[in-house]
Amino acid sequence: MRSFTLLAILVTLTSHLIVAQSSDDNDPSDVLKDLWGNILADVSGTKSNDQPLPQTSATSDPQTFILSSDFEITNVPQVREYNFEIGMATANPDGYTRQVYTINNQFPAPLIEANTGDTVRVHVKNSLDIPQTIHWHGISQNGTNLMDGVPGVTQCPIPPGGSFTYEFPIVQQYGTYWYHSHFANTMADGIVGPLIVHSPDDPLQRGRDYDEERVLLVTNWMHDQSTDIVAALRTKEGYRGTLAAPKGDSILINQVGKANCSDSNYPSGAECSPPPETVITVPVNKLLRFRIINTGAHSLLRISIDKHEFEVVEVDTDPIFGPTLHELPIAPAQRYSILVNTTQGEAGDKFWLRANVAVGCMDKIRQEGLAVFKYQEEGDAEDDGGLPTTDAWGDLAAFDSPCRDLDMDHTLSPREAIDAFTAPLLTKSLSSKFGTFLGMNGKNITGFAFNNITFQNQIYDPVLATVQNTGNYTSPNVATVVFDVDGYVDLILNNLDGGIDHPYHLHGNEFQLIKRGDGNVTSEEVQSMNLTATNPLRRDTIFIPGNSYAVLRVRTDNPGVWALHCHIGWHLAVGKLATMIVRPKDIQSFAQPDEWTGLCAGQNSTQEGPAKRLFDAPANAGISRKIESEIIARRGPKEV
Ligand code: C2O
Repeated sequence: MRSFTLLAILVTLTSHLIVAQSSDDNDPSDVLKDLWGNILADVSGTKSNDQPLPQTSATSDPQTFILSSDFEITNVPQVREYNFEIGMATANPDGYTRQVYTINNQFPAPLIEANTGDTVRVHVKNSLDIPQTIHWHGISQNGTNLMDGVPGVTQCPIPPGGSFTYEFPIVQQYGTYWYHSHFANTMADGIVGPLIVHSPDDPLQRGRDYDEERVLLVTNWMHDQSTDIVAALRTKEGYRGTLAAPKGDSILINQVGKANCSDSNYPSGAECSPPPETVITVPVNKLLRFRIINTGAHSLLRISIDKHEFEVVEVDTDPIFGPTLHELPIAPAQRYSILVNTTQGEAGDKFWLRANVAVGCMDKIRQEGLAVFKYQEEGDAEDDGGLPTTDAWGDLAAFDSPCRDLDMDHTLSPREAIDAFTAPLLTKSLSSKFGTFLGMNGKNITGFAFNNITFQNQIYDPVLATVQNTGNYTSPNVATVVFDVDGYVDLILNNLDGGIDHPYHLHGNEFQLIKRGDGNVTSEEVQSMNLTATNPLRRDTIFIPGNSYAVLRVRTDNPGVWALHCHIGWHLAVGKLATMIVRPKDIQSFAQPDEWTGLCAGQNSTQEGPAKRLFDAPANAGISRKIESEIIARRGPKEV
């Protein structure tokens, strides 16, 4: 009976596009509510609309998006030192003015740029009223697992008003990385920034293989604060009436977008004054490298530039020989570099750059983000503010076509060719799905789980500390695979959700993508396949469609506790995280700096995260439109 009902949920979620258009009594969230388990720990913090907006307006630094040619690419190592203060500011990225989270008052957070071999040292001061951590997405942290920035996994969070210094060398890596908050889903409030690593060894060299380089950040954007959304998703009612992860309210390109002012979810009574589209200026007759990062918490986006085809030359951090495309699909947390020739016009010409939501993996609402791609020469006349009149390529994917990872349709060959590591010593699997699971203290929890364990974050008792102290780890709170071997191993990811696609990110390791397939597989089945591959794709974030699997081959040369999770932040926040523990005995020798242990001192080690409760939130902390409009009435009209 129970398994039938669970199946019904999956089937219902699978067909939510269809269901959502049919009658109300078929609402999938009703089925979910029937199965609802106990509510998880509160995720409180400052709610977006119950406080006055911050006095200061967020700023953005154009240098975050334009890599300077003055940066010296060298193998002489140096320390790159930054002071980061995480705070709040007011911003109007898309027409709706809200509180955002910033670093040094910047939205997005500042660019970090370094060379391979450099040491990055970032002094983080947390001036928010909730805890925080920062994760350096894609950095291997070989030997510096403690700096990985995952609360409850590799550290205790930085408390409100507290500080912590992240310091790590960049060992043998270069390419396009990024950094973001790893506390709950507060990256969705703006704590995201690019981290670019250069190297004289990069086969893609500025000045030889391309002329200039830019960073392009694309993301879903929400009008509500992430803590409100997560709190609501943890109630039976869900957020906006559903337990499904929310569609974005708009798309931001380099943190600028256009809200749909007449959307039924647009807060009634709030001013809606979208800023002008962001203008990306490019020189004429040059070859440009765009490093594209999907910093979003939900949607796969499809990126195109009218009249410009482009060559894909980097996947996550690996230079590749890739296809020439009109449109690039990019899932949350993935990165691609593309090379674009600006030979389609002359100075002053403008084209649309588009970021379309791929609704096949999200919801039924069509959304398009637009930016102006403008040819410009020095000494050009002032911009007249006119908009492009170009048409989209005629062969773009239909907005509701199925979501696919780029490697599923194209050959992506790493330029540094490495064949599949052979003879995996161990094969283990992590199978994930949505459902109701037995949690700590016998309570039922509705959310996402790996191997039937939904992540219950003992945020002040990090997994790493336990492994260091005991050389071992098992827990009913987090699914764990242990690879206690020195060599190569296979990790199977089974996405058991019929209709929900997920972008999975493995911390600390780049994996070889050895195989994809429909349905799911066991370790025994994979072992008997004796899988091998010629120069397989390597990356750190893989999009796995519903009801399919992937086999990742990993070299166990990086002892540590590595998070493996869905990068849809809303799924992560309701349990979709596991850990991969590599060579636990070797972890025991890692030093524990006082500053690191100090973050845990005096805290309640049984406290369940992601947030320490600071404010009394209503029992059902979900946003209600009624409350919201009352608050708007109270705090007055929005400023632009
Ligand atoms: Cu980009 Cu665990 O994160």
